[in-house]
Amino acid sequence: MTERAASRTAVLVCQARAVADGRLAAGTFADPVARDLLDAEERALVDSVRADQPPADAGERLGYELLARTAVTIVPRTIAVDRAVREHRPDQVVILGAGLDTRAWRMPELGKATVFEVDHPASQRDLLERTGPRQPLALRMAPVPVDLATQTLAPGLMDAGFEPQAITTWIWEGVIPYLTELQVRTTLRQVSALSSPGSRLVASYQARSLPTQALRSALRALLRLTRQPDPLADEPWRSLWRPADVRAMLLENRFDVETDEDLLSLSDGLGLSVEGNTGSLRNGRVAIATRR
Ligand SMILES: C[S@@+](CC[C@H](N)C(=O)[O-])C[C@H]1O[C@@H](n2cnc3c(N)ncnc32)[C@H](O)[C@@H]1O
Repeated sequence: MTERAASRTAVLVCQARAVADGRLAAGTFADPVARDLLDAEERALVDSVRADQPPADAGERLGYELLARTAVTIVPRTIAVDRAVREHRPDQVVILGAGLDTRAWRMPELGKATVFEVDHPASQRDLLERTGPRQPLALRMAPVPVDLATQTLAPGLMDAGFEPQAITTWIWEGVIPYLTELQVRTTLRQVSALSSPGSRLVASYQARSLPTQALRSALRALLRLTRQPDPLADEPWRSLWRPADVRAMLLENRFDVETDEDLLSLSDGLGLSVEGNTGSLRNGRVAIATRR
């Protein structure tokens, strides 16, 4: 297993949910737990975005803008995943690459479900330190340290009490871009083998887009140039997908696609200010599929 630091992109999206809570799509989106998981410095940036107070320093402004924009894209994604979980009402939920996912601590609908939080060991330790003694609303929260690049899912899940015969909701949110195509295919094969019919997979992924990739590279170059912390530094995108290829891969693994929508469509009616964010919103997608 490779030793590496805890995920910084997991912190970024947690900050984004803290920015959005009660402020973006209020009434539809809520994550009152996200802020509690952040340290003082991470919260300070959240508070400045919530207060619409951009820093005067041009370098610091980049981190501010990155967070403000991430908040707009994270809201429709979170709403779509939450809705898919609520509708499904599973016996167990497996969150792959859970990062600082707060669902086990904020969704009363999971009161009868076990939530397995699968993540790279370093990121998992970070989650457990940040949640501390906070009690989940889920019936049980089970941490499962697994590096999806080098390890298989079954042993850790089984040790943690996963039941292959039960109906499972799998959440694979914001993780696929950080895995290679082979790692994605290998993981999906395992997910299929561990899923009883009727189980549901909710997966977000990034469609290929040259402008979005160019923008991301330019932002990273600017962060380097201005010596600002770069949350994307150690987590490059490794795979981008065409919706048709995702559909084919899901079908091969006995998952029938119910919906596969981009975040721009999922933003409809949420009152988000999508201007300046349409590229990222158009290329981020959420697919929902059911195991045959
Ligand atoms: C952008 S974060 C998303 C976190 C969370 N799913 C969310 O949406 O808030 C990416 C997550 O993928 C996880 N990840 C990346 N590569 C991984 C691997 N090889 N094995 C397990 N988890 C991995 C990271 O540890 C991190 O938690």
